[in-house]
Amino acid sequence: MSDAGDQKTKEQASIDDKFFPPDAIVERAYVQGLSGYKDLYERSLSDPDSFWSEQAETLTWHKKWSSPICKYNLNIENGPVNISWFDGAETNISWNAVDRNVEAGLGDRVAFYWEGNDEGVERTVTYAQLKSMVCRIANYLKSVGVKRGDDVTLYMSLVPELPAAMATCARIGAIHSVVFGGFSAEALADRILDSTPNVVITVSGTMRGPKPIPLKAIVDEALQISEGKGHTVHHVLMLEQLPLSDVGGSMKAGRDVTWREAVDSQPDDCPVEWMPAEAPLFKLYTSGSTGKPKGVLHTAGGYMVGAMVTTKFVFDVQPVSDVYWCTADCGWITGHTYVTYGPLLLGATQVIFEGVPTWPDAGRCWSIVDKYKVTIFYTAPTAIRALHARGDAFVTRYSRASLRLLGSVGEPINPEAWRWYYEVVGGGRCPIMDTWWQTETGSHMITPLPGATPLKPGCATLPFFGVEPAVLDEKGNELQGPCEGILVIKRPWPSMMRTVAGDHKRFEQTYFSAFKGYYFTGDGCRRDSDGYYWITGRVDDVLNVSGHRIGTAEVESALVSHPVCVEAAVVAVEHAIKGQSIYAFVTLMTGSEPSDALRKELIATVRKVIGPFAAPDVIHWAPGLPKTRSGKIMRRVLRKIAACEEDQLGDTSTLADPSVVQQLVELRGK
Ligand code: WT7
Repeated sequence: MSDAGDQKTKEQASIDDKFFPPDAIVERAYVQGLSGYKDLYERSLSDPDSFWSEQAETLTWHKKWSSPICKYNLNIENGPVNISWFDGAETNISWNAVDRNVEAGLGDRVAFYWEGNDEGVERTVTYAQLKSMVCRIANYLKSVGVKRGDDVTLYMSLVPELPAAMATCARIGAIHSVVFGGFSAEALADRILDSTPNVVITVSGTMRGPKPIPLKAIVDEALQISEGKGHTVHHVLMLEQLPLSDVGGSMKAGRDVTWREAVDSQPDDCPVEWMPAEAPLFKLYTSGSTGKPKGVLHTAGGYMVGAMVTTKFVFDVQPVSDVYWCTADCGWITGHTYVTYGPLLLGATQVIFEGVPTWPDAGRCWSIVDKYKVTIFYTAPTAIRALHARGDAFVTRYSRASLRLLGSVGEPINPEAWRWYYEVVGGGRCPIMDTWWQTETGSHMITPLPGATPLKPGCATLPFFGVEPAVLDEKGNELQGPCEGILVIKRPWPSMMRTVAGDHKRFEQTYFSAFKGYYFTGDGCRRDSDGYYWITGRVDDVLNVSGHRIGTAEVESALVSHPVCVEAAVVAVEHAIKGQSIYAFVTLMTGSEPSDALRKELIATVRKVIGPFAAPDVIHWAPGLPKTRSGKIMRRVLRKIAACEEDQLGDTSTLADPSVVQQLVELRGK
């Protein structure tokens, strides 16, 4: 601990504050005390073969791996980037997540307590029922010709059939691509055009809070768009929730079938395909600094091991006594790793929730915690801040006595939200696992361990086993000791992405070209005198709105798709609940006049092209944008204008026309 003087600043005080794990947590933990963590961490780096073999051997493999356990090149100067783990091995993640538990006699254990959007709507799915569901979906997929290596797109709400359909694809060696149900038809079509599936699995429609979401109608439109651009999907499987007659959408004869007619009657037994460890498992599209989302590709063996070990050590899941609840949707990586795969690989019982934390009121989460006696609760800072804003009474009216561990993911958690989560939600007895990781990393990278790591509010703390971070300056020099800079990772870990689907060059360009030999995370960070890592946010053109990752370029290209918008520049401004919100500067075609109606149209365009969650909060009319003489937009200047900090513009000597700044300041709020 750094020596804290009497006159330390408020910020310093919050940094030096440490929260030690309660004895009850330490006693049952897989890793005990900081020294327990350090020993295992050292071993994971000095002898990765033995460390990872030991972890992997807790799962079932059809064929063992050869040595070394990891082969790789991360330095583009030495040839193409490649990463392989468990070479020569064969396994199946669906067998490990589902059948293995049934074979171990745990068929009657609850896999999912499903809680619907509306109170009182619930289902329970045991491991045996899950296995039968997976096998029947698999037999349907096989009946329409899906085989190893084929892509299947899933566009669903969070019903048990969603993780089941993911595990189904894995069972037969197909590659799933889950598209979050908040994406628009156009965004879904883009993703379908990239992965060219022959089958799409969806839900008729569902309620999110008080709002109906017409999933099937969105699929219909997306398939029409994709057909217009040259790719035809021949089969759509639809789970009936809300009737189509209420929510919209239609059934196309010969293409669309309902769950009832196509799945329910299938035999409930289907063999697994044993897959090479490096076979693709799934694609998940995420935003980067260019307009086109990239298909992050994860492979079977390494991802499976990463998902299992992190769920086990970070949440200290004890399958018999724990009820685990991660609030993420399976449309994001958190739902892949910490809903579908991690907990099932451990045979855990979990809650999955289709609704939103504020419906019917802000007490919903705690009512669910009490109802199912949830012991581990994992959510995002944006949800914590939104619930904090509604006041403590919604929390304290429930007991929450079952909770013993809390988690946070998606963006840096501000110390105030951390403290409220710790004191009010967790009653001061539940350690918070602030887990830093990314779609690309597949599983937790920098995170506390419950029985080992003293916590600091707002800090992701220390690297997980096998993860070797470094902090670089802008020139790429490794910094030592306490420092601030760019976060990179020095060697591969098992659940690392292997490529951008269909574009290995883009993979190399995005993650391995800025700093040779390192994986570039896109995040900035600070390392303190305890060696703890504090994530400071993205250093590239990626926004984080309510934990949703959105590229500035994606929003800009959606805006300029409107006929009267000639140019747009998007920046983030701080937002009390969402973390960041989207602020767009828009230049109109000569002759077009700004108006409130046009502002609404522009926002509607973004909703249509990407999805409602990417809608800008502010449209700022911009007759001109601040550009360098070479034509590059100076976002730094725009950020200051958006934040009303134009008195802190810094050096603007490279601006081609400095007068645009004053012009923009005058138009703010107009
Ligand atoms: C970006 C990755 C990882 C699953 C959800 C988001 C930010 C994520 C934290 C955290 C600070 C965090 C980073 C990262 N982020 N978790 N605990 N503390 N920042 O996945 O959409 O791929 O976004 O989210 O900026 O790069 P994603």
